[in-house]
Amino acid sequence: MARKRSRDPMSELVSDFIDFVNSVKQTTKLEQDGRIRLNATAWLETGLREAWSDLASEWKGALDLTGTALNFQALVTALDVDTTLPRETILCLGSGPGLYEIGLASMFLDSPKGQRIELLCLDSAFGMSQENKQLAEQVGLPNLRVVTADARQLPLADGSIEQVICVDSLQWVRQWQEVVTEVARVLRPRGMRRFYCTVHPKPMAVWVEGKQYPLNQLTPEELKTYLVERGFVLESSEPVDGGTGSGRGHTGRLLVAKLR
Ligand SMILES: C[S@@+](CC[C@H](N)C(=O)[O-])C[C@H]1O[C@@H](n2cnc3c(N)ncnc32)[C@H](O)[C@@H]1O
Repeated sequence: MARKRSRDPMSELVSDFIDFVNSVKQTTKLEQDGRIRLNATAWLETGLREAWSDLASEWKGALDLTGTALNFQALVTALDVDTTLPRETILCLGSGPGLYEIGLASMFLDSPKGQRIELLCLDSAFGMSQENKQLAEQVGLPNLRVVTADARQLPLADGSIEQVICVDSLQWVRQWQEVVTEVARVLRPRGMRRFYCTVHPKPMAVWVEGKQYPLNQLTPEELKTYLVERGFVLESSEPVDGGTGSGRGHTGRLLVAKLR
């Protein structure tokens, strides 16, 4: 059945994004009951990189549709690009299968000023990068690239990136402060220099055989404080109900910070 289109461009964008995520979910085979569980043994023995890689094919199918749509809408609303530049690269950290990035790259494909806005997706889990590449190829996005690397050691030159996005990933990096340091290093001087980061309201933990292992103690408040220490100015901190991986009934945050 054809969806009745709204004239509001934002609703139309989000509705297209929901259709895309829904189609991805429907074609994903889930091993479990729709919930994602990090493999306990992989986490204890080899670390999170392998655990995320193992989960890659299922993750895109298990994402909550409402939370994902809310995250996307919050990102699109906050994102501001420099239209005076012929080219802009937005780096996306911990991009996983790249659903948000594919949504953004599609949106930027036909830039009204012919400006090339490119999404550079980065994830440390090889399986996630592979998923991301395959999905972007299916959609046909020449303005999306994928690289497998650690966000704590970015394989990028100083001052080479316009803006950075990080959706629901910083809380999975134990030394998350190193990621912030790298973001500051790669942002281009005198550019937009913005870091858009969604954060879960509470510190995350991994459950292994009934025991809880804290990942790091990152909260939106702690991130705000650290960003300011590293020379960022906090521009906004918007609540995202049910978004940022927090599930329904929880309120995550989208922080937008600009490097001075
Ligand atoms: C909760 S998932 C979020 C994925 C995606 N942004 C999304 O919202 O669907 C966290 C992602 O962070 C990635 N990740 C964890 N530590 C990382 C690191 N040090 N460098 C790069 N990516 C990392 C994981 O591999 C995983 O894909």
